[in-house]
Amino acid sequence: MPTEPRHTESGLPVEPVYGPEALAGWDARTRLGSPGEYPFTRGVYPTMYTGRPWTVRQYAGFGTAAESNARYRQLIAHGTTGLSVAFDLPTQMGYDSDAPLAHGEVGKVGVAVDSVEDMAVLFDGIPLGEVSTSMTINAPAALLLLLYRLVGEAQGVAPAALTGTVQNDVLKEYIARGTYIFPPAPSLRLVADVFRYCRAEIPRWNTISISGYHMAEAGADPAQEIAFTLANGIAYVRCALAAGMAVDEFAPRLSFFFVARTTLLEEVAKFRAARRIWARTMRETFGARDPRSQMLRFHTQTAGVQLTAQQPEVNLVRVTVQALAAVLGGTQSLHTNSFDEAIALPTEKSARLALRTQQVLAHESDVTATVDPFAGSYAVESMTEELETAALGLMAKVEELGGAVAAIERGWQKAEIERTAYRVQQETDAGRRTVVGVNRFRLDREEPYRPLRVDPAIEQRQAERLARLRADRDRSAVDRGLSALRRAAEGTENVLPPMREALAARATVGEVCDALRQVWGTHTPVERF
Ligand code: 3HC
Repeated sequence: MPTEPRHTESGLPVEPVYGPEALAGWDARTRLGSPGEYPFTRGVYPTMYTGRPWTVRQYAGFGTAAESNARYRQLIAHGTTGLSVAFDLPTQMGYDSDAPLAHGEVGKVGVAVDSVEDMAVLFDGIPLGEVSTSMTINAPAALLLLLYRLVGEAQGVAPAALTGTVQNDVLKEYIARGTYIFPPAPSLRLVADVFRYCRAEIPRWNTISISGYHMAEAGADPAQEIAFTLANGIAYVRCALAAGMAVDEFAPRLSFFFVARTTLLEEVAKFRAARRIWARTMRETFGARDPRSQMLRFHTQTAGVQLTAQQPEVNLVRVTVQALAAVLGGTQSLHTNSFDEAIALPTEKSARLALRTQQVLAHESDVTATVDPFAGSYAVESMTEELETAALGLMAKVEELGGAVAAIERGWQKAEIERTAYRVQQETDAGRRTVVGVNRFRLDREEPYRPLRVDPAIEQRQAERLARLRADRDRSAVDRGLSALRRAAEGTENVLPPMREALAARATVGEVCDALRQVWGTHTPVERF
């Protein structure tokens, strides 16, 4: 009885058996290339994990800077090889912890950072010249980068020695995540200012992490995830070129961020297709000559949306499969979710288990023994080709709408993602899509679970810190710094140098963002497509 062909998450047919005919006419020389060479299908480095394993980079942060600092030290002690900072929503939205709009959110989904003093506490005892730090910060990315630079200088670390990444990807915030502040035009100007500033001042810093993760978590399927992400990447490249930069001046420090779903085969094909599309786009469309401009280097986080609150231990298995997909797909950096995250913030034990999952893959499995083991696979190469075609079709549609920014302003990507999310939910509710423990293999009674809770008194403590900072600092120096920043924002000069002066004088995150709000205004949500 012939089985009904299944379909991938992207809606592409999956053959029960693939054979040589699936790759008839397929030219490995041009479609694959060698690892570390154009079009980078097999990975961005010649040796990949045989030379250096991916960076184990666990996203973490909650409460005060001191509490998060303790968690980073625990992670480093347990073997993490890169830091990844989660900020609370007031920080991400450019409000101080004592702002009315911050009430109830201080220290909740990440660490509260109001000033250079908080940043110094956050990295106390962590040598910034020896660790790479990712910061998930978008609209105020420039501020947190400068606070990081100031703390590095206080530690005696030259800016040129700092390594890390700011997410700085405001376009996906308009589409899926929501932590935007300013309208698109000044937001893109600020992104370009960061590109130019880092090229001159912090050359090893990755200036942006163009993210598909949040669009995937909002419901985008793999083809939509890479298409909308790469379309955003094209918009950032065009913005930097329009600001007068040459493509090979900034493109080597662009980076990306994707999800890894439990559907391993399609995910491996997704990462390989994304690398090939980006390499060709940068070389053929933008004339990039530096191979580093053509390399799609990316971080991966396992799919938070696929974690279940029911039978949470089962999430350990999901995360393992998802992490394997990321590694077999050639990720440079990886975060594995904790099994209890569908319930609350990870405990120290669950965070350690998430880390151990990566260490088992890196040190007990053989996935680091050879590069891109799926190369030449009838199934995965076919899926890579089909996903590439599907993604290119969606990218062409974005171009027809006038490019990523124009399409965002019409709400097109958001509407497409919502359609996919609705279809998946209907399939799950109808039992056509199995979620173990949720719609099949359920328990009559779930076992009790004791989650980690953030101390509600953190908001009061943070407000007292701010009052002391404002009382102790030189108010005229702060005012001078903020005035210079407003003047720069009104003109065309790079806003980061005056921003650094204001932050060094202990202007707060909220005060700096308010100065920019006064000049640029704030973004209002777009009409539905
Ligand atoms: N051969 C030769 N050199 C190698 C190598 C190999 N096999 N492997 C690595 N290297 C070198 C690299 O060239 C690099 O050197 P360089 O700094 O001089 O260029 C160095 O070793 C480090 O390697 P990578 O740059 O590949 O790895 P990193 O981990 O440093 O950087 C990245 C990875 C993707 C480029 C970077 O942008 C990054 O770390 N991104 C992380 C983003 C992140 O963590 N985001 C979290 C988001 S959480 C979120 O959004 C919130 C929630 O809602 C999900």
